[in-house]
Amino acid sequence: MTKSEETNQRASGRVETYSPPPWAKDAHTPSFAEYQKRWQESINDPEKFWGKLASELVWDKDYDKVLEWNRPFAKWFTGGKLNASVQCLDKFQDTETFDKTALIWIGEPGERREITYRQLHEEVNQFAAGLKELGYQKGDRVAIYLPMIPELVVATLACARIGAIHTVIFAGFSADSIRDRVEDSGATLVITSDGAWRRGSKILLKNIVDDALGQIDSVKNVVVVQRNTENLEEFTHSMTPDRDTYYTKVISTGPATCEPESMDSEDPLFILYTSGTTGKPKGIYHTHAGYLLGTMISTREVFDLKSNDVFWCTADVGWITGHSYIIYGPMQNGVTQVMYEGAPNFPNPDRFWEIVAAEKVSIFYTAPTAIRAFMKWGDNWPQKHDLSSLRLLGTVGEPINPEAWRWYHKTIGAERCPIVDTWWQTETGTISLTPLPGATTTKPGSATFPFYGIDAVILDEAGEELQTGQGLLAIRKPWPAMMRGIWGDEQRYRDTYWSKWGGKYYFPGDGAFRDDDGYFWIVGRVDDVVNTSGHRIGTAELESAFVEHETVTEAAVIGIPHEIKGEGLVGFVTLRDGNEPSEELAVELRAWIGEKIGSFAKPERVIFAADLPKTRSGKIMRRLLRDVATGKALGDVTTLADPGVMNELREQYQDD
Ligand code: PRX
Repeated sequence: MTKSEETNQRASGRVETYSPPPWAKDAHTPSFAEYQKRWQESINDPEKFWGKLASELVWDKDYDKVLEWNRPFAKWFTGGKLNASVQCLDKFQDTETFDKTALIWIGEPGERREITYRQLHEEVNQFAAGLKELGYQKGDRVAIYLPMIPELVVATLACARIGAIHTVIFAGFSADSIRDRVEDSGATLVITSDGAWRRGSKILLKNIVDDALGQIDSVKNVVVVQRNTENLEEFTHSMTPDRDTYYTKVISTGPATCEPESMDSEDPLFILYTSGTTGKPKGIYHTHAGYLLGTMISTREVFDLKSNDVFWCTADVGWITGHSYIIYGPMQNGVTQVMYEGAPNFPNPDRFWEIVAAEKVSIFYTAPTAIRAFMKWGDNWPQKHDLSSLRLLGTVGEPINPEAWRWYHKTIGAERCPIVDTWWQTETGTISLTPLPGATTTKPGSATFPFYGIDAVILDEAGEELQTGQGLLAIRKPWPAMMRGIWGDEQRYRDTYWSKWGGKYYFPGDGAFRDDDGYFWIVGRVDDVVNTSGHRIGTAELESAFVEHETVTEAAVIGIPHEIKGEGLVGFVTLRDGNEPSEELAVELRAWIGEKIGSFAKPERVIFAADLPKTRSGKIMRRLLRDVATGKALGDVTTLADPGVMNELREQYQDD
């Protein structure tokens, strides 16, 4: 099928459908009628719906009210008290789950560790007690910059245990990005490791943290996990006296148990930075009870978790997917999970399939960009392995093209496993549009229907509701795991998410359409946010990083379709007088972005432009840059200050 045929097919919603599997009758939501009934209940009477489910949380003190909705601020389970680490660990103390494997951890070089809930509980207690000895307490902000190792789970849950607010920084971020996040959150403690493995290379994380903290005095301590206990010299680093201490030391200094802090339902649990339309990342924060309930219930329903499942979410804990569907959701359900440190193609492109077969993974949750890469690497890699343990597949992070969906269904799922294409965001906290595997007939490329409690609609620009057709996705009512705000910037929360239609709807920033059967299809971001390899990047962030380079006076960054990454980044750059465009400078500028933000944000290409196309009011016309970069015919340029600029740009791009 050609690209345009595929696009037309998607646009009409007329694609082939896939019925729920034979085991649907045993699923948590066993039929579409049941889904519709429950969903309607959740919308008609959210207080009753969520109030009933909230009895599954372990409360120190019962809540007074399920929901206080003071648009755009929601409070859930007000007056209640609980602790997140208790929900994930202590809760299982007198059950069989306590001795069940919580994590099967696999290091990139091949190490394997099994950790039970009991062992995790012990280590979380010890580390939490050690953090208290160091002087940390409820409300303190703790930055965590760790690779995908078990100590990352321990560190987040230990923070939760003492009531400290964690802010996990993806270990691919640069020193500058760490500094921004530490400063904005006001973190006084950083937890990191000496190093990590990625695609066979050593990454010296502690050195990056040292660079970041060079200019910050507010951080009192840095706790360092030694990644490779066999060879402590592996990752060279230095320790700053009176500030830095090793994880093992912190663990051993505290008592063996640490009483969990009783937290208010609405106390912040964590801050997670994500990109927006300005140069400054936003610190999205989530609170306790609503987030915990939302992640627990959505994990159970969407992935239809059963006690014997082996769950593997391949995301990094540095992103929201890892927070919700590695830590809080799965752990509250007492499931066994695989946690893998490294790259999907190291040492070979079948690393994931080798792990699925060896660990008998039954539920596998990954991103479209990974699926497209697997397609490209060839069917022989998955075919080498016995993938018959799989019963359910999931995808998240960006729209999945039907072709990749079908490949995933056939080659990985052997046409046996339903696929849940889950749409959600850092801000929504939990999966928001999704099939339920036992209930929903799926269509490749569609995230299908709203999850319980999500009152999703499609609106046009004017706020008119569309029953079918294309518009903007919006959510009408509050849901338990929704973000509570942007750290330190209440106004930005109102402006970004609630101002578009007079405060009546939450605006996620995505374009979407509904087909004649009522299925939702996400088209992509409608703001200046690009989803590259499932990573969300604000083009303004890259632009401000570009202009920090001494040779650059102006920059415009756009996303263009990319075969594997979904979207790739292209930077159009205007140089200061006295600087000449060159291949070397383009290489240097790409490296500069890697240094300023992180390697994952490096643009595919840097294009030098004598001038950028602008409207008369001086706004850069990204649409035209996109047309140039994708080789499309020029659109309407009559509003350009200097239409000649575009022709010149196009020529340069083609010569490049
Ligand atoms: O554009 C949507 C896209 O990812 C954005 C959210 O990014 P982030 O906060 O980093 O969270 C990613 C993981 C939850 C959304 O605004 N997105 C996410 N999932 C999907 C998606 N687009 C289409 N289909 C999805 N399943």
